[in-house]
Amino acid sequence: MSLRLGDTAPNFQIATTSGDIDFHDWAGDSWVFFFSHPADFTPVCTTEMGRTAQLSGEFEARNVKPLGLSTDSVEEHLKWIEDVNDTQNTSLRFPIVADKDHKVAQMYEMIHPGESETAAVRSVFIIDPNKKIRLTMTYPMSVGRNFTEILRVIDSLQLSDAKRIATPADWTPGGKVIIPPSISNDEAKDLFPQGWDELRPYLRLTDVK
Ligand code: BEZ
Repeated sequence: MSLRLGDTAPNFQIATTSGDIDFHDWAGDSWVFFFSHPADFTPVCTTEMGRTAQLSGEFEARNVKPLGLSTDSVEEHLKWIEDVNDTQNTSLRFPIVADKDHKVAQMYEMIHPGESETAAVRSVFIIDPNKKIRLTMTYPMSVGRNFTEILRVIDSLQLSDAKRIATPADWTPGGKVIIPPSISNDEAKDLFPQGWDELRPYLRLTDVK
């Protein structure tokens, strides 16, 4: 059964580079950026791990905990982290799950047999503090992820939760946002006293601080 947006992220207990974790307990009241990669000591993965570590301040500012996963062992992960730190000029501190028996990768459908029978593809799960899956993305093994986009969707999700808005195509923080059709003009007057531009009755744009 596929995991869908709005589902509760399945819990698991597993060894990581920061010790054994119970996923839900470890996540606590934070958002989680849970991402899988095919294998340690591979070039694209090395740059992705480095980028995540370099952006640790950005994740922390958004109350997001990164959690990596591959089907390699803790010992391999720890050795590889030395390479990540050396080659990407960073200091990787977030945990990486050691999913040797594919327990979590299967639970989260991170192994796509058409790509590989044993290695995870580049899956992304953004999980909110209620443990709900809010976003999924799947990249092939040959394409490194865009971390600007990962931060952007987290910003959009957090802003839409806080302000009851939606964000348009190519939105970036500070840009105009959309008043969803589920909000009537009467209600919008209370929620958005700054007003809005009505291009169509279903397309209302406003600014939020
Ligand atoms: C990489 O991370 O470089 C990689 C891993 C598996 C297949 C292709 C590339």
